[in-house]
Amino acid sequence: MTQRVVLAYSGGLDTSVAIGWIAEQTGAEVIAVAIDVGQGGEDMTVIRERALACGASAAEVVDAREEFAAGYCLPALKANALYMDRYPLVSALSRPLIVEHLARVARQHGADTVAHGCTGKGNDQVRFEVGLASLAPGVSVLAPVRDSGMTRDKAIAFAEEKGLPIDVTSRSPYSIDQNLWGRAVETGHLEDIWNAPWEDVYDYTADPAVPRDPDELVLTFAEGIPVAIDGRSLSPLAIITELNARAGAQGVGRLDLVEDRLVGIKSREVYEAPGAIALITAHQELENVCVERDLARFKRQAEQRWSELVYDGLWFSPLKSALDVFMNEASRHVTGDIRLRLHGGRPVVTGRRSPVSLYDYELATYDTGDTFDQALAKGFVELWGLPSKIAAMREHKSGS
Ligand code: ARG
Repeated sequence: MTQRVVLAYSGGLDTSVAIGWIAEQTGAEVIAVAIDVGQGGEDMTVIRERALACGASAAEVVDAREEFAAGYCLPALKANALYMDRYPLVSALSRPLIVEHLARVARQHGADTVAHGCTGKGNDQVRFEVGLASLAPGVSVLAPVRDSGMTRDKAIAFAEEKGLPIDVTSRSPYSIDQNLWGRAVETGHLEDIWNAPWEDVYDYTADPAVPRDPDELVLTFAEGIPVAIDGRSLSPLAIITELNARAGAQGVGRLDLVEDRLVGIKSREVYEAPGAIALITAHQELENVCVERDLARFKRQAEQRWSELVYDGLWFSPLKSALDVFMNEASRHVTGDIRLRLHGGRPVVTGRRSPVSLYDYELATYDTGDTFDQALAKGFVELWGLPSKIAAMREHKSGS
């Protein structure tokens, strides 16, 4: 029986060549799977046709945008997920979803191998392979770019020799990965980390330095999930899409950082994530209003751990699953509205209201109507400082 290999297919040069390359090297039938996670660009039917024209025995395209928004972007929002305090995990979030579909197609077609086009230098190989090991432990992996010498020059030569229907000439100087949650750009002039990014790097965001009128909106959350913009109830996909457009038009969500990859390399990456950054900013502030102090303090540590696990390819790990339960529990009262002003590249919260707010005007006010009993503060402060005071007295006594 002919073996079958399921290939994670993007429609680009590398994975198009990989179809014939894998077929030649293994004699297997190649089943191409392309996933729409909101990357835009070419129509998915065009990508499907190209896979077949490049020799795939079957090709499947999946519109996974709603699934990506609800099942991946929203959990990241609940966790305020920012790797190294800044990167909203754009690529890291899409990989486990792609893996779920690869594992499903492999099961449906009785394939025992899954292939991807990642190099050996990045995080994505880890996310694909560790994810696959968790969901389909019996399935083995082929990585032609990493493991069988399919370099870019060889890929172009292969495409020309076989007359594959791929444009090998119009190549961007950048390596780009984009989806609904944002866009990642590396290589080219960015590899010199002293170089400022050129404007042609950006696509989701307008130049924040250009003067323009601000945009203001009200975001409604229910239990940590955004459910409406300006009172219009919308799906997660529609909310993220609208915020990408509106925050992007104000230049919100650009970032430029040197990050620590799992494989040990420090790499420079430019990101734009207008919707993600606007949502996280609003969500964090609503949490400030609705989440009790110790839970909020602890959640920040859990958020960092969640972000590292997802960055490191451990989406399907037991700790990540357990932290998701924590995030959901911590989000139970994160309900209410945030007014957000988008302007000059920044999302600024200008108002908050919630039916389950912990902000008590009467406790907070310095005006008449104050219900806070200041007499209680005196003893509290004394006892709070007591351990420090006793320790300091010991230092004085011993003369140090
Ligand atoms: N460094 C990011 C990550 O590991 C993005 C990688 C995406 N690739 C790219 N071509 N920019 O999540």
